[in-house]
Amino acid sequence: MAYSSSTVLVKFVFLIFFIGVVSAQLSTNFYSKSCPNLFPTVKSAVRSAISKETRMGASLLRLHFHDCFVNGCDGSILLDDTSSFIGEKRAAPNVNSARGFEVVDNIKSAVEKACPGVVSCADILAITARDSVVTLGGPSWNVKLGRRDARTASQGAANSSIPPPTSNLNALISSFRAVGLSAKDMVALSGSHTIGQARCTSFRARIYNETNNLDASFATTRQSNCPRAAGAGDNNLAPLDLQSPTAFNNDYYKNLISRKGLLHSDQELFNGGSADATVRQYSSNPSLFNSDFAAAMIKMGDNRPLTGSSGEIRRNCRRPN
Ligand code: HEM
Ligand SMILES: *[C@@H]1O[C@H](CO)[C@@H](O)[C@H](O)[C@H]1NC(C)=O
Ligand SMILES: *[C@@H]1O[C@H](CO)[C@@H](O)[C@H](O)[C@H]1NC(C)=O
Repeated sequence: MAYSSSTVLVKFVFLIFFIGVVSAQLSTNFYSKSCPNLFPTVKSAVRSAISKETRMGASLLRLHFHDCFVNGCDGSILLDDTSSFIGEKRAAPNVNSARGFEVVDNIKSAVEKACPGVVSCADILAITARDSVVTLGGPSWNVKLGRRDARTASQGAANSSIPPPTSNLNALISSFRAVGLSAKDMVALSGSHTIGQARCTSFRARIYNETNNLDASFATTRQSNCPRAAGAGDNNLAPLDLQSPTAFNNDYYKNLISRKGLLHSDQELFNGGSADATVRQYSSNPSLFNSDFAAAMIKMGDNRPLTGSSGEIRRNCRRPN
């Protein structure tokens, strides 16, 4: 039986549509031919940065989060201010806080040396986040690649899309839902606060003003290096995980159960609400936490990437080509 021309046309249209959808997906082997040494190149640069300063693993992990939550994982957080836009580095969640940009520059230089003009800054952040977690003892996962870099940034979107530490549970759930992540993903990804540091200004209101759900001796300890009055002590640091701040493990959830979450937003995950059960599970089942964390990182990395011919492969992560 002969195909009618309309059937052929319909099939052709579907084929084109299908190719379009497929090419918009990320894949783990995206650079296997164009940059075969990508993974070892990034891994050795990440390891060397972490061996110089253990905290850097935390700072690099956070950059991928702050990239992905603002108009998708498009490397926008790495852009410096230009004459035509204000970058995201001075947005409220990042100013005096986001760090590791020089390390990303070093990794990008090493990658450019191996494969010039091929690998996006957005993808470098995704690989760097995975390698940081692994280097600090956390789970591994296969990073999906093929993102391209934005030509612009949005300070306003960074201010509004990244949740502040004053958030309550509902606000946390809705800001993650806005980027396609579930409440369970949110609880798993918050386990990132098993590493790294926060400034006094991020937790002062909790340690001085909260009595509910805050261990009193923990509060006293934290107050000793975080003065009540705003000002000189604002940038004093405290570990997000008091037990093992440089090891990626599930102690974060144990802290929450002992009412020793550092940020108000941390303790919201274990405050008599809908997230309590997941916190208890992760506190007692490290391998469940590891696998849910890895799955949620992949999902976060899927948020609205630029693919195909959208965006560009930046030569320098700090500025559009
Ligand atoms: C659930 C909502 C979240 C809130 C409200 C939040 C808030 C914060 C705040 C306020 C700090 C300290 C910043 C400072 O004082 O300079 C911080 C640090 C950090 N955050 Fe989050 N965060 C959240 C989720 C995440 C997620 C999803 C990740 C990673 C996937 C992450 C990774 C980190 C890391 C690793 C640090 C330490 C960074 C360093 O030491 O340089 N956070 N976060
Ligand atoms: C974003 O927040 C920063 C710091 O609070 C503020 O200076 C800036 O005006 C805000 N920008 C936009 C576009 O909302
Ligand atoms: C504690 O709460 C009071 C009343 O809301 C407020 O005026 C004060 O600034 C808060 N203190 C800190 C350290 O956040």
